[in-house]
Amino acid sequence: MTTHKIVFFGGKGGVGKSTSSSAFALQQADLGKRVLLVSTDPAHNLQDLFQKRIGHKVTSLTKQLDGLEINAQEESKRYIKGVKENIKGLVHAHRLPEVHRQIDLAASSPGADESALFDRLVSIILEHTSTYDSIIFDTAPTGHTIRLLTLPELMEAWINGMLKRRKVVTDNYSSLLNDGEPVEDPIYQTLMERKRKFSLARTWLLDNEKTRFLYVLTPEKLPIEETDRAIEQLKKHQMDVSGLIVNKCLPDEANNSAFFKQRKQLEEGYKEEIQQRFTNQSKVFVPLQERDIASVEELRALHPYLTI
Ligand SMILES: Nc1ncnc2c1ncn2[C@@H]1O[C@H](COP(=O)(O)OP(=O)(O)OP(=O)(O)O)[C@@H](O)[C@H]1O
Ligand SMILES: [Mg+2]
Repeated sequence: MTTHKIVFFGGKGGVGKSTSSSAFALQQADLGKRVLLVSTDPAHNLQDLFQKRIGHKVTSLTKQLDGLEINAQEESKRYIKGVKENIKGLVHAHRLPEVHRQIDLAASSPGADESALFDRLVSIILEHTSTYDSIIFDTAPTGHTIRLLTLPELMEAWINGMLKRRKVVTDNYSSLLNDGEPVEDPIYQTLMERKRKFSLARTWLLDNEKTRFLYVLTPEKLPIEETDRAIEQLKKHQMDVSGLIVNKCLPDEANNSAFFKQRKQLEEGYKEEIQQRFTNQSKVFVPLQERDIASVEELRALHPYLTI
């Protein structure tokens, strides 16, 4: 049983992130923990695995397991709506169209969807770590995830810049309106609150007793290379990948066919390479199943292998 509160599953497209994270979450729940499984992948398939409509509200999947699907674009829309609501009372009605135009412009800039998604991730971490024993994140393919996880640094730098500028504005207001007495600035307060939230999330993400990063890969050349790169990149941001799930390994029956025997030999070479290259990570090897994994029973069949 993992003692970590937060577990992220990363990896290249199609290697089995959704399958492994779902099986792992289910395993933890079967052991009696309260678990929340969160998918940040736009092509959600938790729905197919658990035969339940999930969406952006916490939904019960099994007795101890809840699920949540979050989508960057939808989060961005919801987020912008919220910002517009908040700003309503703060500016004069005649200035609102211009302010809305500025907000829409910011919303369509590159990275805006990811920022909104990250904001939601942070909220989930802060909101649910007290109600669940574990929160398991099934992420979208590698590049995207890494960018997302390094966002707190970027966001903090950005917010600090905004805070500085805002401080000048507030100071000017104070001397103009209030004989130099400080005035309450709601935007400054909002930014400070965001800063507080992000640094709190950062302390969670960087604490390897609380948060764990697991990578899923198949025993093949390109996934090995990509995993290596991802581990290095995360390390630059002080995040350690502590375990690897080597998925879709050919079963022993493969030796009964000359063709598959040869493939299995090739695979053994890659497994050896994985052992030698990734010395800091614990590893588990999950065999390729006869068919796609599409039900709770099939997910449970993977439990004996997920001893990570
Ligand atoms: N051990 C396994 N044996 C057989 N099929 C598997 C195994 N692991 C995963 N699959 C199948 O491989 C396909 C891809 O798996 P999955 O959706 O979990 O990958 P993913 O990494 O989440 O993909 P994406 O990057 O698109 O989100 C699915 O059809 C799944 O059922
Ligand atoms: Mg997936």
